[in-house]
Amino acid sequence: MKPIIAIDGPAAAGKGTLARRIASTLGLPYLDTGLLYRAVGRRVLDAGGDPADAASADAAARSLRPEDLDRSDLRGPQADAAAASVASIPGVRAALLDFQRDFAVQDGAVLDGRDIGTVIFPNAQAKLFVTAGLSERARRRWLELRGKGLEADILTVEEDMRQRDAKDAARAAAPLKAADDAYQLDTSTMDAEAAFQVALAFIRTRIGMI
Ligand code: C5P
Repeated sequence: MKPIIAIDGPAAAGKGTLARRIASTLGLPYLDTGLLYRAVGRRVLDAGGDPADAASADAAARSLRPEDLDRSDLRGPQADAAAASVASIPGVRAALLDFQRDFAVQDGAVLDGRDIGTVIFPNAQAKLFVTAGLSERARRRWLELRGKGLEADILTVEEDMRQRDAKDAARAAAPLKAADDAYQLDTSTMDAEAAFQVALAFIRTRIGMI
């Protein structure tokens, strides 16, 4: 059976960069599950609805199409907030469950998100929980925004991130938390290369791939 690798953690801890590189190194498909919640949030906003409204969010999740994940407006503060709102609605999470499980069924996969190791794939062969201090994560996100030519105030970025993480961790449905058997990787003082090497070494001990 092809391996399933779960990479969870809070915003801007380095999950996406790490997961993408692990996937390409091991020749596995990669899914950024945050995009699913972002796309649902966008659909609700497009329809003029409130992302915190369960009926609107459930309907948007049930009618999600693969091409919604390719939209160019799934990042930025408005999309961040809409994603975190729809993500706390149990019906939305239920509607997205099969998509995530089906994605990995054939060839295995690397998935990054918040609940991959706890809810989506509790039996994943390797689980990582990637973290970094809040101010460091805010600095990384701020640099990323600047790299895209977007001016942002670093303290506002940090406060938005703090609120989103708190909401993700406090929600009743699949809260952000490390699985008991996850390897905890704190990247606060690591660059992307160092984080990749540590993560790959751990994953290899779990799945025995070269
Ligand atoms: O990872 P990303 O920042 O793109 O995720 C956006 C939002 O989607 C998160 O703040 C979280 O609320 C939600 N999410 C989730 N479960 C996942 C992935 C993302 O609840 N597996």
